Amino acid sequence: MKLNILVVEDEPILREDLRAFLRERGHRVRAAEDGRRALAQLDEEEADLVLTDLRMAGMDGLELLDRVQSDHPGTLVIMLTAYASVENAVEALRRGAVDYLLKPVEYEELALRVLRLAELRDMQRENQLLKRQLHLREPSRDIVARSPQMQEELRTIDTVAASDGTVLVLGPSGTGKELVARAIHSRSPRCDGRFVAINLAAVPETLLESELFGHRKGSFTGAIRNKEGLMTAAGGGTLFLDEISEVPLHLQAKLLRAIEEREVQPVGSVDPQPVDLRLIAATNRNLEEMVEAGLFRQDLYYRLNVVEIRLPALAEREEDIPPLVEHFIQKHAREMKKPVRAASPEVLRLFRRHRWRGNVRELENAVERAMIFCDGEILLPEHLSSQLVARSEEEGLPEALKEAVHVFERRHIQRQVELSGGDKNLAAQRLEISLSSLYRKLEE
Ligand SMILES: Nc1ncnc2c1ncn2[C@@H]1O[C@H](COP(=O)(O)OP(=O)(O)OP(=O)(O)O)[C@@H](O)[C@H]1O
Ligand SMILES: [Mg+2]
Repeated sequence: MKLNILVVEDEPILREDLRAFLRERGHRVRAAEDGRRALAQLDEEEADLVLTDLRMAGMDGLELLDRVQSDHPGTLVIMLTAYASVENAVEALRRGAVDYLLKPVEYEELALRVLRLAELRDMQRENQLLKRQLHLREPSRDIVARSPQMQEELRTIDTVAASDGTVLVLGPSGTGKELVARAIHSRSPRCDGRFVAINLAAVPETLLESELFGHRKGSFTGAIRNKEGLMTAAGGGTLFLDEISEVPLHLQAKLLRAIEEREVQPVGSVDPQPVDLRLIAATNRNLEEMVEAGLFRQDLYYRLNVVEIRLPALAEREEDIPPLVEHFIQKHAREMKKPVRAASPEVLRLFRRHRWRGNVRELENAVERAMIFCDGEILLPEHLSSQLVARSEEEGLPEALKEAVHVFERRHIQRQVELSGGDKNLAAQRLEISLSSLYRKLEE
């Protein structure tokens, strides 16, 4: 368990002692005599751990701690401090140091603490590794896909995740476009990087350029300091451009250049900065039509559409409804701490008949709502909103009056029997018909 350690100490003898001791214990150790030089060394090569003195001329230990945290977020800091400044040590912990040691340094104690940090780091790495292996064994486990169309899209997701290619996710509202984008990221080699999402319809046009590419201090009124754009923030990870159709034309050109050159030019800057990210874009609009109408640049469209994933409306994949319902029941039962286990066959029939204009999102909301009203283990039609029941009924009825009445009668009887828990006597009473005519109708 070797760590890459940077010792920062202005007192030369102590600095050398610390370096020699930690080296002897098998770590890779560098040393710096002040904060400024320490930062320069970190820029050259990252360290796992910075062991720094608190009191130093120029930049003190606390300031160094802040800089390490903002510029080298993966690096841990241990503060060395004399008895006289224990309050400062506490302050250091509050600001994010992982530990502190009192001077004079107890070397065995130091070795022990460093060892503990090394174990912690190894555990974190192992954890990440395990997470990745889980993903490999259970492909796209959050995406429910029983229909052949969705199975096909799942295969595309699995293949494209392994590459770095740009992906365009298309589909009507609520079909799972963002879910797919997140799945691609979490199953890609960039899964330890960030997944940064921006909804392009939600950012005012005047702010969009600076949001995406960043800006330099003073480049416009209100730009009081340099700001990193989202394309830079997503470095090493994935940038999800949601509602891509909403990028104004003049920014489309800049976006295209950024993608092609793999660099961004912050507002007010002349130096382009390299960016390293995977792009995923999504829209529920027809981009091809927008290209034809001159509202979307064709070259950008081709750039984004390297791999295309088309999510069908829920109505085109009815067989996904039962497993989706099961998935949402499990998800919300856990959250709501309710014992709901399943939906009754009648609820599933209603769900299959309903026209889900809001697609999977609307279905999830319907399940969630029903679960709120459900006290038992099974979701029943009475737990659904009455509009949903009424609408499903109407939508499923044939046009001819005689047939429609017949279908309605059958469904109504089935529902009353179900609501009576299968008790036909009770159902007959509710329907205000005799038991024998109920039996006759059931046989029909
Ligand atoms: N195949 C699926 N399996 C499991 N959950 C799904 C599936 N598809 C969608 N969902 C869930 O439905 C909800 C809506 O999905 P999402 O936000 O990804 O849709 P969207 O296509 O981005 O919608 P919009 O166009 O409105 O932005 C989310 O809670 C998501 O987890
Ligand atoms: Mg979305």
